[in-house]
Amino acid sequence: MAFLFKFVQTPFVMSDSKNISLEDRFQEKIDNNIQIEPKDWMPEAYRKTLIRQISQHAHSEIVGMLPEGNWISRAPSLRRKVGLMAKVQDEAGHGLYLYGAAETLGAARATMIDDLHSGKAKYSSIFNYPTLTWADIGAIGWLVDGAAIMNQVPLCSCSYGPYARAMVRVCKEESFHQRQGFEIMMSLCNGTPEQKALAQDALNRWWWPSLMMFGPNDSESKHSAQSMKWKIKRFSNDELRQRFVDMSVPQAKILGITIPDPEIKWNEATKQHDFGAIDWEEFWNVVKGNGPCNKQRLKTRNKAHDEGRWVREAATAYAEKRHQRKQNQAKSA
Ligand SMILES: [Fe+2]
Ligand SMILES: [Fe+2]
Repeated sequence: MAFLFKFVQTPFVMSDSKNISLEDRFQEKIDNNIQIEPKDWMPEAYRKTLIRQISQHAHSEIVGMLPEGNWISRAPSLRRKVGLMAKVQDEAGHGLYLYGAAETLGAARATMIDDLHSGKAKYSSIFNYPTLTWADIGAIGWLVDGAAIMNQVPLCSCSYGPYARAMVRVCKEESFHQRQGFEIMMSLCNGTPEQKALAQDALNRWWWPSLMMFGPNDSESKHSAQSMKWKIKRFSNDELRQRFVDMSVPQAKILGITIPDPEIKWNEATKQHDFGAIDWEEFWNVVKGNGPCNKQRLKTRNKAHDEGRWVREAATAYAEKRHQRKQNQAKSA
């Protein structure tokens, strides 16, 4: 995409002053678009910020499987079932890449997962809304994965190497998710009046939570300025949200359904769409754990984790056995 900066692999000359601090040297690398790798020196605050962001991202991928998993057994055709299963499995893979990226910063996977299960860690609030009809699967793919792409494409050129590289593959898969969602919406909108009404109802319920996915307005976003300086974040919440609105309006027109915001209109002066005010009270309420499905999501995750204990134990026992066998072979060689 044209708006991306590219981190370069080419050598560059560091300031040759012997008195330059580690922190200045680190910032100099970032300013010169040199990626930071796990063994490089980094400020503690940079490491902590990345662990928080990457682990929240990983949790969002994992919890994000739940609303859609709800519809795998009820997909309306074999083709839709195959597509949805592939998508949900992709999300599991995204979670795993991201836990792996957070581990390169020294975070322990077990701690991250415990924090998710205890409710201490956050994940994207959008996944605390219910999937009431099949059209919700279309709306999620179109809007939620569409918003995820908008957020994640810039991360392909973020300053931390393992996170940036994970994002390249994630974004390719997100693009498939967005297309499968839009195609579901298209089929419904070209179907019976009842099917089109389902699509409209899903858009009505998912539109505003999708706009909230970009986070608070820039004026309220406390971590933004430092994250921009470190090139962890490349564009502000409001910039990305605006791009998302500008992308979605023509798509809704193609579908023939109406975005539930009477204030949306093209602004000739700014060459962007103006849109109505977001209900931030609802956003914070869901973030604080009071959304329609917060408790259900955590309960389901905890149950899945408990029921998977025997698999983890068996895998660990098998790995130990293989390791032992290799050591015995090496001794007798
Ligand atoms: Fe994903
Ligand atoms: Fe996705």
